[in-house]
Amino acid sequence: MYYIGVDLGTSAVKLLLMTGDGKIEKIVSEEYPLYFPHPGWSEQKPEDWLTAVVKGIRELTEGIDRSQVAGIGAGGQMHGLVVLDKDDQVIRPAILWNDGRTQEETDYLNQTIGKEKLKRYTGNIAFAGFTAPKILWLKKHEPENFSRIAKIMLPKDYINYKLSGVNSTDYSDASGMLLLDVKNKRWSQEMLDICGITESMMPKLYESYDVTGTLLPEMADELGLSTSVKIVAGAGDNAAAAIGTGTVGNGSCNISLGTSGTLFISSDRFLEPSDGIHSFAHADGAYHLMGCMLSAASCNKWFMDQIIRTTDYPAEQKDITDDKLGKNHVYYLPYLMGERAPHNDPFCRSCFIGMTMDTTREDMTQAVLEGVAFGIRDSLEEIKGLGIEVKTSMVSGGGMKSPLWQKIFANVLDITLTIPETEQGPGYGGAILAAVACGEYSSVQEACDKLIRTTGEVKPDPELAADYDKRYQTFHKLYPALKDIFPEL
Ligand code: XUL
Repeated sequence: MYYIGVDLGTSAVKLLLMTGDGKIEKIVSEEYPLYFPHPGWSEQKPEDWLTAVVKGIRELTEGIDRSQVAGIGAGGQMHGLVVLDKDDQVIRPAILWNDGRTQEETDYLNQTIGKEKLKRYTGNIAFAGFTAPKILWLKKHEPENFSRIAKIMLPKDYINYKLSGVNSTDYSDASGMLLLDVKNKRWSQEMLDICGITESMMPKLYESYDVTGTLLPEMADELGLSTSVKIVAGAGDNAAAAIGTGTVGNGSCNISLGTSGTLFISSDRFLEPSDGIHSFAHADGAYHLMGCMLSAASCNKWFMDQIIRTTDYPAEQKDITDDKLGKNHVYYLPYLMGERAPHNDPFCRSCFIGMTMDTTREDMTQAVLEGVAFGIRDSLEEIKGLGIEVKTSMVSGGGMKSPLWQKIFANVLDITLTIPETEQGPGYGGAILAAVACGEYSSVQEACDKLIRTTGEVKPDPELAADYDKRYQTFHKLYPALKDIFPEL
């Protein structure tokens, strides 16, 4: 049988076709536009996601026996607010995970309602990218749109709804709404009341590996697939990426370097988070901690595409030789869209610091790669502060294809990185969840044990790790020094 994994990302949807024994037969990708209607805002049209997914599935299954497709599982960009009216029409463009418009609502939740109450209701405090502050923003700034809301959903749940007609979500993705009581896996009535919405607007909750429905006849027709194809609940993209790298069970770690950058620690029980870190449900049925930076590989993409104006990223990295690592006097703050973990500050912005007359283009490229690694180190320090030790991590995401960036990460974090054979994190995780839901494996753990293979390790070098530790101590002082100036920008 075949399983389709969908990675509903921010710049594109990537789809893959996996056989029951975990082999990837084909990968396709479809892009869609991203809108920045104001500095710091970020929106997409749910209809564009659907068009891309339908086109992608048709292309993916071209030339195969389509009757062999058994299930579809998606990992989706988290936190995005999708609202539908009573006729199932999209009310306005989705407000995305990296949108920073909700400082006022986030402050109201954290300061007026109070962090203690929020943690009691949901397990977490409010961050500007979470869904609940966006609902409050809509209520205040677009009351007309707010009054039309009949259904509230997350990005991948919109796709699943269109495919199956079932309004579902899973616990990992729902965790990022700040509407779920994460520990007890139920909607928080207190949070629904605070946002002025009702449970009838919310999707039904499932584990990520549950079947929620089957393909609607009109969708099956359009896709050329059978109406018996199972739609599974799926997961937030980070939980799906963790499944795709075998990051399950207690204490294992995955670092994802995509548009966002995340440090993801799997846990067999709910753990109290710090103020910079999230505590969410995992797609294996348990829990996880996560630090998320809003701009990670996207910092390099921005620097390459917009500033240096090149598409040849490896060429820009080839002169950053080993002797230059740990010695750069240029620093880069990776806050192109503000920052989530650990600063929770939508106003901070990117900057280069420390240039002199002899600073080169390579120094600045290197500073960008290092700045992103330092940002993940900030999350690692928070995790260490919770008494959790991390010695090794799996990696995923496009940025981690660069051997130079892998080396910088291993030494900045002073941990060993394990490289998976398949780096299709969320898509592969989505396909694995579909295979589990369809009975190919008895559990997510069993599927990961059988399917995830690694190709090698990148170990830190003690001397270089010590050099980077010194550099990190300087990096760590830059945000507090600039914090009060950012809102003036
Ligand atoms: C996680 C987060 C991002 C998005 C990216 O909290 O906001 O990783 O899920 O798609």
